[in-house]
Amino acid sequence: MSFFQGKRVLITGGSSGIGLAAAQQLNAQGAELILVARDVGKLREAKDSLLSSPGGSGAAVELLPFDLADKSALVEAVRSLDGPVDILINNAGITRPGNFLELPEDCFESMMRVNYLGAVELTRLLLPPMIEKKQGSVAFVSSLLGLMGIWGYTAYAASKFAVRGFAECLRSELKPHNVSVTVCYPPDTDTPQHEGEKPFLPPETVAQAGTAGLLTADYVAECLLAGIADRRFEVIPGLQAKFAATMNRLAPGLVHSVLDWDARKAQQTP
Ligand SMILES: NC(=O)c1ccc[n+]([C@@H]2O[C@H](COP(=O)([O-])OP(=O)(O)OC[C@H]3O[C@@H](n4cnc5c(N)ncnc54)[C@H](OP(=O)(O)O)[C@@H]3O)[C@@H](O)[C@H]2O)c1
Repeated sequence: MSFFQGKRVLITGGSSGIGLAAAQQLNAQGAELILVARDVGKLREAKDSLLSSPGGSGAAVELLPFDLADKSALVEAVRSLDGPVDILINNAGITRPGNFLELPEDCFESMMRVNYLGAVELTRLLLPPMIEKKQGSVAFVSSLLGLMGIWGYTAYAASKFAVRGFAECLRSELKPHNVSVTVCYPPDTDTPQHEGEKPFLPPETVAQAGTAGLLTADYVAECLLAGIADRRFEVIPGLQAKFAATMNRLAPGLVHSVLDWDARKAQQTP
């Protein structure tokens, strides 16, 4: 029997990309889902696709539309839930690459609100019943950019590093309560978010990120869910991302030299 069979899972960003892929796999494995996103139309489409999928389990799919950046809407939405959740997957996120001085000032705040504070607030509200039952899982989708910074991601990487710091501390605190914490650090993944950021990418970012490859949302979701089921703390999908993260830990100076070389090459290309 799947670890997720009969579990109630709330997943933010469940209407698109990695979140939707995870929702499909969770539904196929018999999990009851609560999908969070802002756009009600996209949420309905996601629900219809889950319920009509030949591989679907027929388990319940609930929609909970709200904006993670709006704390009072978040609190109200969680209050409207009928009972506790067993697994919380903080997956929703936004990005806006660009050179630091050219980025809109407010994007630093909006990314912290959605990518970091939204996850913190949801965790704060959904955790107490898990602690009480001494059972549950809290997962976060950070990014490879939550482990290492590259050109063009000052705002985004900072929000993803924040998720990592929060989760590392939370892991220790929740261990005695048998609630597991998992953080997933995907590299570039083929999703609407990845497509949407392309017009904003400085050439140096393209050069530095180009070597890490492009994963599918299905594969990243599979790695994320396997990590949650195994109660693993760290999940880095893909061999290239694992290699990059390991090198960045062991030899950050060397990694910086390679990144600087990539950036110089991009600047010299007409
Ligand atoms: N794609 C990549 O290359 C990549 C790499 C590393 C990490 N990640 C991370 O993986 C996670 C999923 O990304 P993705 O690529 O699958 O993105 P995506 O396809 O753009 O999906 C993002 C999801 O988050 C929801 N969302 C965005 N802002 C929200 C808000 N303020 N409140 C509630 N829901 C919100 C979106 O729905 P609405 O727009 O309707 O709200 C959508 O369902 C993100 O945390 C992202 O940073 C992605």
